[in-house]
Amino acid sequence: MNKDCILENLRNIPNYPKPGIQFQDVSTIFKNAECLKEMADEIVNLYKDKGVTKVVGIESRGFVLGAIVASRLGAGFVMCRKPGKLPGTTRKASYQKEYGYDCIEIHDDAINENDTILIHDDLLATGGSMLAAYNLVKSFKPKDIYINFIIELCMEGLGGRKTLEGTNLTTLLQVS
Ligand code: PRP
Ligand code: MG
Repeated sequence: MNKDCILENLRNIPNYPKPGIQFQDVSTIFKNAECLKEMADEIVNLYKDKGVTKVVGIESRGFVLGAIVASRLGAGFVMCRKPGKLPGTTRKASYQKEYGYDCIEIHDDAINENDTILIHDDLLATGGSMLAAYNLVKSFKPKDIYINFIIELCMEGLGGRKTLEGTNLTTLLQVS
């Protein structure tokens, strides 16, 4: 993967959504055709031999590559959504984020014990969103759970990798 191309196209927006936060804007790497293809190719290469049956994407920025990769792996795509968005019966988990609290849900019939799951999101900061998603997915007792992020933020105090210690985790790029 051409990491330089992705780093050049990743946009940093200071003080968004509140003072002190350096917002890594992935919209600029999603809109670039070369970056989008390179990132999808890289994730597909990492997981093509793992027998993934479903990719779980975390709303909303985890939906973009999650769905592309699911299709390329011959897997289904499951939406892990913010509260009140899924119409059927759901399982829920709440968690603390870098800036505030949130809750996520997955449809009760979305995952079964024969599935091998890849959970994908755009960015690892504190790891709070992914840990909640991981525990929620784990409650379905799938065969295996893999985790992938595009970007890993390595700034002091975030500790995302530590939060997810013990999970099977890959990230495409580290940003500090
Ligand atoms: C951002 C980002 C990750 C999460 C990372 O999503 O897309 O999902 O935060 O933070 P964490 O590691 O501290 O949990 P956000 O909840 O802002 O929503 P969005 O994807 O809908 O923009
Ligand atoms: Mg997100």
